[in-house]
Amino acid sequence: MFNFDYFTPTKVAFGRNTVSRTAGLIREFGGKKVLVHYGSGSVIRSGLLKKVTDLLDEAGIPYVTLGGAVPNPHLSLVYEGIALCKKENVDFLLAVGGGSAIDSAKAIGYGVANEGDVWDFYDYKRKASGCLPLGVILTIAATGSEMSDSSVITKEEGLVKRGYSSDHGRPKFAIMDPELTMTLPDYQTACGCTDIMMHTMERYFTNGGNMEITDAIAEGLLRTVMANAEKLKKDPKDFNARAEVMWAGSLSHNGLTGCGNDGGDWMTHKLEHELGGLYDVAHGAGLAAIWGSWARYVYKNCLPRFRKFALNVMQVEPASSDEDTALRGIEALEDFFRRVGMPTSLRELGVNASEDDLSLMAHKCAVGVNGAMGSARLLREEDMLAIFKASV
Ligand code: NZQ
Ligand code: ZN
Repeated sequence: MFNFDYFTPTKVAFGRNTVSRTAGLIREFGGKKVLVHYGSGSVIRSGLLKKVTDLLDEAGIPYVTLGGAVPNPHLSLVYEGIALCKKENVDFLLAVGGGSAIDSAKAIGYGVANEGDVWDFYDYKRKASGCLPLGVILTIAATGSEMSDSSVITKEEGLVKRGYSSDHGRPKFAIMDPELTMTLPDYQTACGCTDIMMHTMERYFTNGGNMEITDAIAEGLLRTVMANAEKLKKDPKDFNARAEVMWAGSLSHNGLTGCGNDGGDWMTHKLEHELGGLYDVAHGAGLAAIWGSWARYVYKNCLPRFRKFALNVMQVEPASSDEDTALRGIEALEDFFRRVGMPTSLRELGVNASEDDLSLMAHKCAVGVNGAMGSARLLREEDMLAIFKASV
């Protein structure tokens, strides 16, 4: 076991009709003027945005709105949000939507609370010393950004997608009503379930420090997400399945499933961020498309963990060798991805990558991780390229 800090300051309001508590929660955390930040329009179509602004009007809390946070949210909108907040003296951010709206709001919060160019944080040039307080109304269970310390932004110039992590960016509160996720297209539901699983798997496939208690939580979470993803495939209106997945999403990325380990592997995410940056694919689908190739490339260097995963999570029959058992686990997870409509290759993802593009992504990825990264197996640029090539 390694020493660890576990810091989850986000107040969670979970369940039916919790949106009605929005104004009270903003007040509780000191908000006097709010920027309501959202995505490309799903919250307008569902009526949620109107409901939220009505609640603010009733409570007498002034606000401005800014929509347009696209999947793989753009830096240019972040700059726009920072300028708007400064002009309007906004002191509280309310993200209504998914990871993209939340991450964009976090970036706006860093930009308002710190001097200089906010991209510096995403470019690892310096660290934020604060962030505007942020609340969340979550509409898709996926990234865990509602409780996480991370924010992922894409700089349009050069299509560079980078994450920045800081405890300052953790939301003050998160309102999670599973019913809000019922309007999601099946594809986005499956993307979300994949992302949730991957946040725990990145922490699971490591070569150091693992604790039984953390493993038990992680394995239970993964089995729960898979079972409920299959239920949602059959019945997208299953409230309890929506609730299981939604809560799993938060627990998967608030640090809980990594306590005691060496910090996690994270290379599937790093590789996917290159796909998302270059081809603008949905994050969860990109992860599913690359994971099998990553797993086959690294499993021999992390065999006990892959064997444990195969037996305890995928619940396969043990094979005659540990290697074969590990491979059965990898295949079983890919079968699951296919059952819920996720891709297991770039082609199935709809990406027809040229050799040059694969090399470019491997290079950008290597630069982004400062040369090499990975716990299951340390990967350098040539390894990243080999994985991209295997995933075609
Ligand atoms: O933009 P709108 O119109 O709202 O539509 C969204 C979007 O098209 C739609 N949607 C969301 N809730 C809906 C809905 N449609 C109907 N009904 C609803 N209730 O779904 C699409 C996806 O939304 P988005 O916010 O982009 O999804 P997600 O939550 O998966 O966020 C993805 C982004 O988060 C980053 C990803 O890389 C990607 O940029 N990540 C953030 C992390 C973090 N902050 O901790 C960690 C992750 O690993 C990830 O990298
Ligand atoms: Zn993710």
